[in-house]
Amino acid sequence: MKWLGRCPGCGEWGTLAEEVVAAARGTAVRAIGGVAPVPLREVPGGEDARVPTGVSEFDRVLGGGLVPGSLVLVGGEPGIGKSTLVMQVLGHLSRATRTLLVTGEESPKQVQGRAARLSVDCGDVEVVAETNLERVVALIEATEHAVVAIDSVQTLSSDELDGTPGTVGQVRQAAAELMRAAKSSGVTVILVGQVTKDGALAGPRLLEHLVDCVIAFDGEEGRTHRVLRATKNRFGATNEVGVLEMRGDGLACVEDPTAVWLAEAGERVGSCVLPVLEGSRAMLVEVQALVGHTEVVPPRRVAVGVDRTRLAQVIAILTRHAGLRLGDQDVFVSVAGGAKATEPAADLAIALAVVSAFRGRPLGASVYAFGELGLTGVVRPVGGTERRLAAGAGRGMKHGVVPVGEGATGGGIFPAAHIDAAIDAAFR
Ligand code: TYD
Ligand code: MG
Repeated sequence: MKWLGRCPGCGEWGTLAEEVVAAARGTAVRAIGGVAPVPLREVPGGEDARVPTGVSEFDRVLGGGLVPGSLVLVGGEPGIGKSTLVMQVLGHLSRATRTLLVTGEESPKQVQGRAARLSVDCGDVEVVAETNLERVVALIEATEHAVVAIDSVQTLSSDELDGTPGTVGQVRQAAAELMRAAKSSGVTVILVGQVTKDGALAGPRLLEHLVDCVIAFDGEEGRTHRVLRATKNRFGATNEVGVLEMRGDGLACVEDPTAVWLAEAGERVGSCVLPVLEGSRAMLVEVQALVGHTEVVPPRRVAVGVDRTRLAQVIAILTRHAGLRLGDQDVFVSVAGGAKATEPAADLAIALAVVSAFRGRPLGASVYAFGELGLTGVVRPVGGTERRLAAGAGRGMKHGVVPVGEGATGGGIFPAAHIDAAIDAAFR
């Protein structure tokens, strides 16, 4: 045994956390008596029943609603609206079933204060202030409530472990016990998890493999729009996004995210519109770029909402195949409004935004673009071409600069085989 301050794996300081391992409880099963494997075809099948939560954007991300007996983690930074979302969901569900909020962070009085502001009637939601894991598990196993929400997992502590609430061991123990309780009782458990700005040591990251669904709640500081994403979902896809707006009376669903995300778009230097596919929806987002001379070596490459590695690759392709001298230029690229464009299809829009910023000239009027860039400068076809074209046309965008391929012909569409041709088409 010796002291360690630095992780031998990644070399970072201060990233080690103490984890106290409790003595094993009960006796291990040694004989396999009573364990009977069955062929898959004899396992009862059928779709999981879904319970809509009354917040349609949350349902969308969950894959249609809450699955009874599942454990759902809602993670996000403090102040993003987790407690508000959970209270709205419980308020809606309490019309048909009994719901319970276990609060560890706020007093029932504070919870009542928030609930009173909401447009949903939360009067039937039951509330209990409790931080003891064993007592919370007992509440779930009593099965008097169909849905139990716990705000937050970091406040729970188990009698069986030493250590303060929120430590790695405590959080993991809590998640494992709650998962077991949810599965055995059929009660749906919603866990709120705090994520700190620096990624959170004992936060939702740690819990990801223990729960059924992880819903990440994101938003830009000082903005009212919030984005929900499933980073894990055992009952549905993980590529759907939900968009919400924080109003005076709680969170409201935004049916048309494009209107939010294109709010700043226009014929500006460094701007290019990109149709992205987010699950069942195709939407338009705006890629923004800023390029400026710098003495710093190496120059800065900052990516917000786009993939850093893809940005580096796009810059290399522009330097080599389009003659852009970016070696002494800082390049900043971001996607407006908290949207994301991490798919390869974003390459061409990123490239055109950077070219526009570098030349100090806006792209042609109502141009949008998509396509993957190969290392040789070719523009590769991407999936969902027709849906992307339809998304562009639906917003009155007139000029699509797109890969050569099926579906991409007709008025206003400029198929480009190479980055050079794409740049020419975009500045016409
Ligand atoms: P909250 O749900 O408490 O966030 P979290 O649980 O993620 O920490 O709410 C966060 C913020 O939202 C809070 O600063 C106040 C604001 N808010 C509104 O703007 N409108 C509302 O109706 C409510 C309930 C909160
Ligand atoms: Mg809260």
